[in-house]
Amino acid sequence: MPGLIVVGTQYGDEGKGKIVDFLGECASYVVRYQGGNNAGHTVVVDGKTYKFHLMPAGALRDKKCLIGCGVALDPRQLAKEIDNSGKKVDLGIDPRTPIILPYHNILDGARENRMRNKSGSEIGTTNKGIGPCYEDEKSRIGLRFFDLVGNEKKLEKMIRERFEEKMIILKEVHNIEPQLLVEEVVKEYIALGKKLHPYMADVSKKVFAALKNDEKIIFEGAQGTLLDIAFGNYPKVTSSHPMSGAILTGIGLPPTIFQDFKFRIIGVVKAYTTKVGSGPVITCLDHNKWPVDENVSEKEAKIIRKNGGEVGTTTGRPRRVGWLDTVLLNYSQSLNSCKEFALTKIDVLAGIHPLKIAVAYKHNGKILKDYPSWDLEKLSECEAVYEEIDGFENFEAKKYADLPKSVKRYIEIIEDATKTPITIISTSAERKDTIFKNFKKI
Ligand code: IMP
Repeated sequence: MPGLIVVGTQYGDEGKGKIVDFLGECASYVVRYQGGNNAGHTVVVDGKTYKFHLMPAGALRDKKCLIGCGVALDPRQLAKEIDNSGKKVDLGIDPRTPIILPYHNILDGARENRMRNKSGSEIGTTNKGIGPCYEDEKSRIGLRFFDLVGNEKKLEKMIRERFEEKMIILKEVHNIEPQLLVEEVVKEYIALGKKLHPYMADVSKKVFAALKNDEKIIFEGAQGTLLDIAFGNYPKVTSSHPMSGAILTGIGLPPTIFQDFKFRIIGVVKAYTTKVGSGPVITCLDHNKWPVDENVSEKEAKIIRKNGGEVGTTTGRPRRVGWLDTVLLNYSQSLNSCKEFALTKIDVLAGIHPLKIAVAYKHNGKILKDYPSWDLEKLSECEAVYEEIDGFENFEAKKYADLPKSVKRYIEIIEDATKTPITIISTSAERKDTIFKNFKKI
C-alpha cells in the first residue's frame, strides 16, 4: 500500500493530526499538499502535547516530511517550527511553493475588517494571509520558495516591487498605514531564505520515485472538504483544495498513479460538527451565531466545547458546535471517495442525553437528497432530520468489544447513513487511545 490519503470530511479540526501521527508509524514519508499555517494539528503522546501548523505531523516520528507546491508557506512559521523541534528535521520543500509575506497577513485582516464593517459578512479567516498569498500566486505576482532561497538581489527587487503595490492598496482602499518597513522585510526574508535553502527539493519527483520504490507515503490533508475553495460553502471557505484529488496538483503527480499504485483514502470524521468561521451549519447548537455567544448556545454545545477543547488551535476562537451531519458526510464522501472512516472524539459526547445525528434535511417541507454546497441561502433554510439515541457515560475501552452499546449504535448509524465502514475509533487525544474495527494494516 504505497499511498494513504488522510482527508478531513467536515469543516477541518477533525483530529487528522492524531490519525496521521498514528498511521505514520508505518510510513516512510508524510507529505502536505495544500493549506498553510491556518491549519493546527495537535498530537498528544504520553501526556505531552505537540502542536504543528505547517510541518507535516510525521515530523514527530522522525519521518521524511515533504511540503508540496499546493501549500501556502509562511517561512517565518516554518523556521519557528524547525527551531522548536529541537532536532534535525528531514524536510523537503518544493521550489514552486507560494510564499506568504507579512503584507499578506495585513491584507487578510484589513479585508476582513472592511467586510465586517460594511456588511457584517466577513469570512472569519485565520488572518494568516492564506487568501492573499494564493491570490498573488494565481495573479502570477507571487513569490515562490525558489525566489526566497535564490539570488538575494533578485529577491530584494521582487519584494520591493510588490511591497509598493500592497502599501497603496492598504492606504487607498483600507485606509491603513502599517508599521512595516520594506528594508526590514527584505532583511528578514533574505535570512529566512538562507536558513531554509537546504530544504529545497523537487517534491513531485521525490514522491513519484517513492511510489515507484513501493515506499509508504501518507498524504496529510489540512482543513476539511467543506472548506474547499470550490466544493465547500463558498465564500465561507479557505483558499485551497483540501479534498483528496488535490494531491495531483498539490504535489505534481499524474492521474495514472491511482491505477499504477495502490492507494487508500481514509476520511476523518469528528463525532460531531464544528466550524470556526461563519457560514451555514445546519445542525448547529449555537443558533448559527458567529462569533459564538456562549449565552445563546445550547447546553450540549457548552459541554462539547468544554470537553472537546473546541477552541481554534490557530486562532484561539471558540468553535461553533453542532450534531453530527451525515448529509454533509455523504457529500464529502462523494468528492473524496474514502473507502473507510476514522471516527474521532467520540469520548467528548459522554454525559449528553440523548444524542442526535442528522440523517436527512428538510427544505420547504420536502426531503432534500443532495447537498447544495453552492446555495448558502437554501442551506440556511434547511432543517435537519435527526435520529436520536441514548447517550453514554465516560468509558474506558481497549478494543471494539469494550465500547458501550450506545457508542456502537452511534457508529452503526453513521455507517448505515454513509455506507462507509468506520475502521478506526479514537477515544482520546492520546496516541495510544485508538481502537480498530476490521482495520487492514497499512
Ligand atoms: P483562511 O484559511 O485563514 O483564509 O480562513 C478561511 C476559513 O477557513 C475560515 O472560516 C477559517 O476559520 C477556516 N479555516 C482555515 N483553516 C482551518 C483549519 O485548519 N481548521 C478549521 N477551519 C479552518
